[in-house]
Amino acid sequence: MSTVSNATNIFWQDCQLGKPERQKLLNQKGCVVWITGLSGSGKSTLACSLSSELHSKGKLSYILDGDNLRHGLNKDLGFKPEDRTENIRRTGEVAKLFADAGLICVASLISPYRRDRDTCRAMLPDANFIEVYMNMPLALCEARDPKGLYKLARAGKIKGFTGIDDPYEPPLNCEIELKEDNGVCPTPNVMAGQVVSYLEEKGFLHC
Ligand SMILES: Nc1ncnc2c1ncn2[C@@H]1O[C@H](COP(=O)(O)OP(=O)(O)OP(=O)(O)O)[C@@H](O)[C@H]1O
Ligand SMILES: [Mg+2]
Repeated sequence: MSTVSNATNIFWQDCQLGKPERQKLLNQKGCVVWITGLSGSGKSTLACSLSSELHSKGKLSYILDGDNLRHGLNKDLGFKPEDRTENIRRTGEVAKLFADAGLICVASLISPYRRDRDTCRAMLPDANFIEVYMNMPLALCEARDPKGLYKLARAGKIKGFTGIDDPYEPPLNCEIELKEDNGVCPTPNVMAGQVVSYLEEKGFLHC
């Protein structure tokens, strides 16, 4: 499946104009905001809110959403473990390119396996990979069920569904953890604000 390391006699082509010049042009620093969590935890919603908030501040971002990528780049992949791993690897490589372009790349995918997320982290300087964990209870995600997938999984009509009969491995050392406050889920705007504050604090919104 993967074509990693299969080629030989491959050289790296350098160019004088690099990431620093692009970052200067955009007045921001390229990075990857990687949003992970159960289906229905609000990853895509947060990604959209975050992207809008950054846009309103004059900052360029681009969303790599798991569902959308499966319509194109990853449409040959299913949900068995090796396909999930390849799905995340490809997304990580694309995210790395967007970050190199100087953009704030927002990746929103369930990305259930810790090792796969860590592989993506290792593709970038550590500080440039900002892992955001949507730590929402399974019961909340299942109650939302906007796509009706939990219902199908519970009925045994979807096999290997994350959180039901396939594992979700929570991050051990994420940069940002978002969760309910006294049993109430913060609004997408509030959560986007938390991520923007983090980016501001770490200097990603200026060059
Ligand atoms: N902060 C929030 N407060 C209340 N409802 C929310 C919040 N965030 C998302 N939702 C709602 O929860 C549902 C699931 O959100 P969303 O589609 O963003 O989840 P997801 O994590 O991207 O799921 P999937 O992995 O299946 O794509 C949607 O109906 C959305 O409107
Ligand atoms: Mg989504």
